[in-house]
Amino acid sequence: MHVLVIGSGYVGLVAAVGFAEAGHQVLGIDVDVAKINKLKQGISPIYEPGLEEWLARHQASGQLSFGTDPKEGIREADAAFICVGTPQSEDGSADLQYVLRVATQLGQAMALRPMDASPLVVVDKSTVPVGTAARVEAAIAAQTDRRFEVVSNPEFLREGCAIDDFVRPDRVVVGCRSDHAEKVMKELYGKFLAASGGRWLRMDPASAELTKYAANAMLALRISFINEIAGLCEKVGADVQCVRDGIGSDHRIGKYFLNPGPGFGGSCFPKDLQALLKVGRENAQPLRALEATVEANRNQKQVLALKVRKYFKCTAGTPAPLAGRRFALWGLAFKAHTDDIREAMALELIDALTALGAEVVVHDFEAMPNVRAKVGNRVRYAEDPLSACDGADALLIATEWPQYAQADLRAVAGRLKAKLMFDGRNLFQPEAMKADGWTYHSIGRSPVGPTGHPGTL
Ligand SMILES: NC(=O)c1ccc[n+]([C@@H]2O[C@H](COP(=O)([O-])OP(=O)(O)OC[C@H]3O[C@@H](n4cnc5c(N)ncnc54)[C@H](O)[C@@H]3O)[C@@H](O)[C@H]2O)c1
Repeated sequence: MHVLVIGSGYVGLVAAVGFAEAGHQVLGIDVDVAKINKLKQGISPIYEPGLEEWLARHQASGQLSFGTDPKEGIREADAAFICVGTPQSEDGSADLQYVLRVATQLGQAMALRPMDASPLVVVDKSTVPVGTAARVEAAIAAQTDRRFEVVSNPEFLREGCAIDDFVRPDRVVVGCRSDHAEKVMKELYGKFLAASGGRWLRMDPASAELTKYAANAMLALRISFINEIAGLCEKVGADVQCVRDGIGSDHRIGKYFLNPGPGFGGSCFPKDLQALLKVGRENAQPLRALEATVEANRNQKQVLALKVRKYFKCTAGTPAPLAGRRFALWGLAFKAHTDDIREAMALELIDALTALGAEVVVHDFEAMPNVRAKVGNRVRYAEDPLSACDGADALLIATEWPQYAQADLRAVAGRLKAKLMFDGRNLFQPEAMKADGWTYHSIGRSPVGPTGHPGTL
């Protein structure tokens, strides 16, 4: 099959290398010329494990190429995937301007297709609200008399393991109306589904569009739920890790997405929840559980800063109560194995601590360039995790990079002013930390510390 993938970001690039891996002929498109030039040189503009190797392999084999105009590949394309961003508008809804612009461009490019070509399958892979397939269809139809069909095929990959998720899907959701479109989609995904044993779910486009939002809403709800249970654990002296094991072992509940932490961020959950709430409002269907999820997460993103304020007895009204204090902050990406900092909790932590007058020295394995571009010299950037700790009053952890969990804590303690840690990811065991002389605050577990340590213990 010949495939056009329009938008070469996290989703588009992964789809492009994935379809090339399945043996299809892929042309990746992006309006960002610098990005396309990098890609042509085999350099990935984003960090995603394995992506650069796959880019090199499939570009070398001729299976994958890149360009800036859909016209380059429209003639022979069997399918065109729309993988552009759908950021949050001011009113919370998904901003569809990029999706609709691509639809118009595709419609214009269709003039290059022979009149008797089989219908082009135009696939909405961007996350879009119900009714978008119809709007994309109208935008294309306004430009062309050639045959096409719009399909909704939401993407469920997780950044950090995106390639694996793409080539080993547990389900492929296809919202389409014709057997021709289903056949094309089956040919594209067939190899992956055969290998993974995943489910093929054909449905109408509106259901497919809503499935994506409902999936993200459900996952976000689980995270906010366990985060609030974690807060309660701290109040009543319970351990959220035990509670999590206790409920997660129930097969009706399952253990996934029940890790307590400093609130969810990323490019999807926050904006997708807002977009779904907007759809609910527009249709007079309140989504109260979702509203509570958003509210709980707003509070959770402050949880580490609150613990720091409490420990250092920062009283309201005191200007710059953390002036003269330095904090090492490990982890900037919204989760491990990515360089994505969209809605990352570390950014809120930086804002909160610097607003209190503190100096912050940050480290991340992949996300530092993105943070530097956004935050500039409001923080200092450390070459490695250990040097971030030099002379710091405490270490804060916001991202669960496995390397942090394996850090040599004796060396870390040697760099800090005191053995004081605020761990937003529960990377360490409280009892072991206590035995080692640390004052250790984590999520959903009582703080521990050596007897007589100053502060709240
Ligand atoms: N990132 C994820 O983990 C993820 C997972 C599932 C679904 N999604 C959804 O997929 C969509 C894309 O997300 P992303 O994270 O890949 O976004 P992204 O911002 O990383 O990439 C979007 C790309 O589209 C390009 N673009 C914009 N307009 C264009 C045009 N007219 N022609 C060609 N290229 C154009 C941009 O330059 C950019 O490179 C969003 O709707 C998102 O919600 C994202």
